[in-house]
Amino acid sequence: MRLAIRIMGFVTATVVSGIALLPIAPSQAASGEEVIKARIDFMNDEIQGHWKPLAAFVRKGAGSLADVEKNATALAKLAEKIPPHFPKDTGRGKYPDKLTRALPAIWEDWAGFEKSARMLAEESEKLARLAKEGNKDAVVDLIGPSGSYAKTKIGCADCHNDFRGAAAKK
Ligand code: HEC
Repeated sequence: MRLAIRIMGFVTATVVSGIALLPIAPSQAASGEEVIKARIDFMNDEIQGHWKPLAAFVRKGAGSLADVEKNATALAKLAEKIPPHFPKDTGRGKYPDKLTRALPAIWEDWAGFEKSARMLAEESEKLARLAKEGNKDAVVDLIGPSGSYAKTKIGCADCHNDFRGAAAKK
């Protein structure tokens, strides 16, 4: 019985690592497209979902510092989930520009990409801390007074500038 479990475990590990090493073949294109769709949903619904209250706080004075703290804490956790949404070669060059804005630079400089995700985690943690301390001026400065994620100092813009291409022309 125990031997059977060990054999099963070995077989499973072998199969799983075997799949991880396979290059993406054309027959697997559909699953690459699913990965891309799922990560854009993740960016729109989860990352952007927690960014919006931060933007509204600086733009319209909506919500409280407690709300900023809550959303910044959520963003710090979500930042760690960004890199796993980018399996190798699921970006432009392999897939059409209108499907994805992920640049090949992500996989050419994977350490830099992970560093960008860590920056979002660290700056979001800092933001949560500042909000908890009631330091409104520093909170507004870190989010960015314009409330635009293209200008914020918490890390969205830094990663997008290096690793996200321009939107495809319709
Ligand atoms: C570590 C890198 C990284 C960080 C940090 C990051 N993003 Fe992104 N984001 C990307 C990439 C790459 C794409 C393109 C994904 C694709 O098209 O396949 C993307 C896509 C998006 C999208 C989908 C729509 C579009 O225009 O591409 C939104 C919305 C978005 N990001 C918002 C944010 C916000 C808001 C933050 C900060 C709170 C953030 N992102 C932080 C890398 C990042």
